[in-house]
Amino acid sequence: MPISLLIDTDPGLDDAIAIALALGSPEVDVIGISTVGGNTNLANTTRNALRLLEFLNRTDIPVASGHDEPYARAKQETGNPPVHGTDGFASVDLPEPSTQVVSTDAPAFLAQKIREAKDPVTLVAIGPLTNIAHLVDRFPEVLPLVDRFIIMGGAAQTGNVTPVAEFNIWHDPEAAKVVFNSALKTVMVGLDVTHSVKTYETEWEWMNAFGKFGEVFVQMMTYYTDFYSQFYGERMTHQHDALAMAEAIWPGIMVLQETTIDVETKGELTDGMTVVDQRDRKGRGRNSWVAWEIDGNEFHARLGQALRRLAAPFES
Ligand code: RIB
Ligand code: CA
Repeated sequence: MPISLLIDTDPGLDDAIAIALALGSPEVDVIGISTVGGNTNLANTTRNALRLLEFLNRTDIPVASGHDEPYARAKQETGNPPVHGTDGFASVDLPEPSTQVVSTDAPAFLAQKIREAKDPVTLVAIGPLTNIAHLVDRFPEVLPLVDRFIIMGGAAQTGNVTPVAEFNIWHDPEAAKVVFNSALKTVMVGLDVTHSVKTYETEWEWMNAFGKFGEVFVQMMTYYTDFYSQFYGERMTHQHDALAMAEAIWPGIMVLQETTIDVETKGELTDGMTVVDQRDRKGRGRNSWVAWEIDGNEFHARLGQALRRLAAPFES
């Protein structure tokens, strides 16, 4: 029986790969997608989610848009060039969507999907946690119905926007604090594990034999690789969101440690830091798991299989 999956996302180039990974994996059934502001504004993340699903012939999956502005603070700029392009999708040539969102209230949409699901769902958040924080506030009664809650975000030992803060948490720390201190037990797939896996540009070469599929995804990944190569000097990317998605699709593919996590929201140097308490004190409530390791070769093998399933109809 496939896992019923809800995805909250800010597409976003690595979001696109994560969504494609889910759509190409028979182990999961994507029952809904909600969009949030993050990599780009909500209008763009929503447009990108709709365009991607239409391109992959999956307009059966309902999309709801959510919050653009962070939970309790004004949007901040990272100061970097737009990692995902000004439209969030590397200005890729995809037509305007012919579909529309089924709701502009993502938290209510997620709550309804969780309530209606035949079996407990897995909720994966691969953008800032703004929608999830509002879900926690408004619909606490559905939280016990969530089987697993997995995020791409945070880190125990590093950062990417600052030395200690990862983008999804840094963009909306107050939302993350609400979520980590809620009844949801969070599996945090953070930079500790996503920085340990390098996806070299050669991983995408096979796509060039698959027509428009290759054109779209190679353009996206070339743009994303260009960004990384200027910082890291190698033609590679970190597929943050797809790695978090891998743990949702294949539970246990990662080494997880049960722990306690809270979020800094007031620090001058540490704003947006996920503070992971590894002292393993007895009696301290464990509200989360932190992901530490994954077999990068296994990840790439499974990612390639899933993407090839999606690419098949496009073969030239
Ligand atoms: O730090 C990586 C995260 O920030 C990913 O989710 C990426 O899409 C961006 O949102
Ligand atoms: Ca993302």
